[in-house]
Amino acid sequence: MEPLPRVLVVDPRSPDARVVSEAAAVLRRGRLVALPTETVYGLAARALDPSSVARIFAAKGRPTHHPLIVHVLDEDGARALAASWPARASALAQAFWPGPLTLVVERAPRLDAAVAGGGDSIALRAPSHAVARAVIEALGEPVAAPSANRYQGLSPTTAAHVVKELGAAADLVLDAGPCHAGIESTVVDVRGATARVLRPGAISSAALRAVVPELDAGAAAVASSAPRASPGMGLRHYAPRAQLHLAASVEAARSQSAELAAGGTRVGLVVREASKQTTGGSIVVRVLPADAEGYARALYGALHELDDAGVGAIVVHEAPAEEAWWAVADRLRRASQRE
Ligand code: TXA
Ligand code: MG
Repeated sequence: MEPLPRVLVVDPRSPDARVVSEAAAVLRRGRLVALPTETVYGLAARALDPSSVARIFAAKGRPTHHPLIVHVLDEDGARALAASWPARASALAQAFWPGPLTLVVERAPRLDAAVAGGGDSIALRAPSHAVARAVIEALGEPVAAPSANRYQGLSPTTAAHVVKELGAAADLVLDAGPCHAGIESTVVDVRGATARVLRPGAISSAALRAVVPELDAGAAAVASSAPRASPGMGLRHYAPRAQLHLAASVEAARSQSAELAAGGTRVGLVVREASKQTTGGSIVVRVLPADAEGYARALYGALHELDDAGVGAIVVHEAPAEEAWWAVADRLRRASQRE
């Protein structure tokens, strides 16, 4: 079994100053702290220190050309890490920060290329979660933080998920309960002629369009099975241990589960509320909310639970083909890819 990391419980709204300063001290020593954000738990390290950054890649087993997101407190903090800051970046930051929006801009030279996966751009976001903010503030420096899971694995929405996935690869885990959005930030490239969504996420394209009407929402990438525009982003990602199968309808999902179960596989079945319930001997059913936000909040938790229940396959009724569901559809499609 994995050795266990140190876990400190912390209030998500008003974090205990002693816990926060302990986390900052661990980071200052060049070590890793898993902390809650409003999207998913992140594995944080000092963004300006190359050896801290190297530790993140090692802990996750992540290829070093996969760029990290750097977390700051506000727009000023972001500008300090960018070589240029387009007007569109300001408009989006003012509308959505602090919050689950990541902006890709030109990287400032003071930021080591390693944190950017070797590239010239950098992904920046100002999280809204009080614990993440308090830690960045106490440290007095930006932190790089990918989702706190092993490479290609399921993202964590609770501290227990982090402990299960990373064990003592995280030096300290701050437990502030479940994350609010439950799905990662929306990544938007603001360098080109139009703002372009590289990864759909917690902020919808409709909300972004209210600020940048010329937004390229990345529909082509969402609809196809092409690898994402983000560098180093392979197709398989966000995946549970069990093979995930997507079914076009509830009926198809049911019959595929029944077939797999008949072949002796223990099966997890994930459907949306209001679809008729099935109970079957070796089929474990999870019913998720019928609205896109509620579904996103619950999805990773449900997949973690099914993995913990030891199912060999997971059949999921796919997301509706509507823009509000793009982030969920993207994660499900990537999770269903075979190695
Ligand atoms: O919600 C989130 O964004 C979470 C929390 C912890 O903040 N973090 C997160 O980080 O999801 P990670 O490393 O698991 O995913 C980073 C995403 C990837 O899709 C990556 O390709 C993209 O951001 N990305 C990072 N830097 C980039 C860059 N310079 N250019 C384009 N895409 C970039
Ligand atoms: Mg991730």
